[in-house]
Amino acid sequence: MTDLYILVYVSTATHLMDEAELEALLLGAVVQNSLNGITGVLLYNDGDFMQCIEGPESMVRETFNRIEASRRHTGIICLCEEKISERNFSDWHMGYTKATKSQLLALSSARWEKVVDESAGAKKDSDGLMLLKDFWGRR
Ligand SMILES: Cc1cc2nc3c(=O)[nH]c(=O)nc-3n(C[C@H](O)[C@H](O)[C@H](O)COP(=O)(O)O)c2cc1C
Repeated sequence: MTDLYILVYVSTATHLMDEAELEALLLGAVVQNSLNGITGVLLYNDGDFMQCIEGPESMVRETFNRIEASRRHTGIICLCEEKISERNFSDWHMGYTKATKSQLLALSSARWEKVVDESAGAKKDSDGLMLLKDFWGRR
């Protein structure tokens, strides 16, 4: 099994991005991520980002270093980073959708720690990840 890892963060754009700028950012991310085996989703609303990246741990760390270094956003807060057994957004080298302010608020204030299911003796997805997958599925 590959050593899969997930990282979710929120951040604030240093300036309001128009559609063309977002598209260029996304295209660059898709190209990089395809080469690096990274999948995930990016949500945007009115200057606020939420992004989930997943893939081999070393690649997730390398990608996040690049993301953190970008001058296009600031105030990066990591909500979750942990090992996973399978990808959640395997079809998307970077899926993108707009979200509303309240959707981003709900997602960013959810519990992002994995829950240990005593009866199954296994860990299940965090509330945050379940909400994000549900949101993405219904976009
Ligand atoms: C919101 C956001 C999301 C990004 N997502 C990715 C990504 O998924 N993969 C990646 O390799 N780089 C990603 N980057 C980094 C950019 O592709 C690029 O390396 C960076 O924007 C270049 O630095 P600059 O923005 O300071 O010019 C992201 C950057 C931002 C601001």
